[in-house]
Amino acid sequence: MKGVVLISGSGSNLQSIIDNASKIDLEIEAVISNKEDAYGLKRAQKSGIPTHAINHQQFSSREEFDQNLSQLTDQYNPDIIILAGFMRILTTRFTKKYAGKMLNIHPSLLPKFQGLNTHQRAIDAGESEHGASIHFVTAELDGGPVIAQSRINILADDDSESLAKRVLVEEHTLFPKVIHWFTQGRLHLKGNNAILDGKAL
Ligand code: GRF
Repeated sequence: MKGVVLISGSGSNLQSIIDNASKIDLEIEAVISNKEDAYGLKRAQKSGIPTHAINHQQFSSREEFDQNLSQLTDQYNPDIIILAGFMRILTTRFTKKYAGKMLNIHPSLLPKFQGLNTHQRAIDAGESEHGASIHFVTAELDGGPVIAQSRINILADDDSESLAKRVLVEEHTLFPKVIHWFTQGRLHLKGNNAILDGKAL
């Protein structure tokens, strides 16, 4: 199955997807970043994957940026769009257009801690557990149906950095696993439900 990966930063999730691509039946056609200096672009180039950077600051509106992103994405006609640390809010028009084929990873046990600074917020809230979630992207920010989660314990001496590191390790196995479900045709979005092997998750 063919896919486009959107990133904004370091791209460690992208790396785990690249490393697992053949195992999970994924051909990464292109990596697109909204930041020109995202290290993930280098990772993609090292693996011979075409890259594009579209600096969102060059557009006067979110609509205009998304239209450009959409035009670029459509050149590849992807079956799946993978948001791997893509830190831009997408317009409803964009999320509707790709509904059911767009997956995002979020570093919290959704619906807890949507948005930013999830690790610190989990510590501040006195949570005993934290983790990562993969969900279908819908118009609601970090609010689409959750497909799978990975949980870890928050340790007494954790700070946001140590916690983020351990969550990231989980992300790197969780995302390829869920992408594989999708490429195998086992995972779908039906209405507002994620369906795996015919059953609502
Ligand atoms: C990950 O924690 C991801 O869940 C979040 O941003 C981080 C991106 O890390 N949305 P990387 O760019 O994949 O290293």
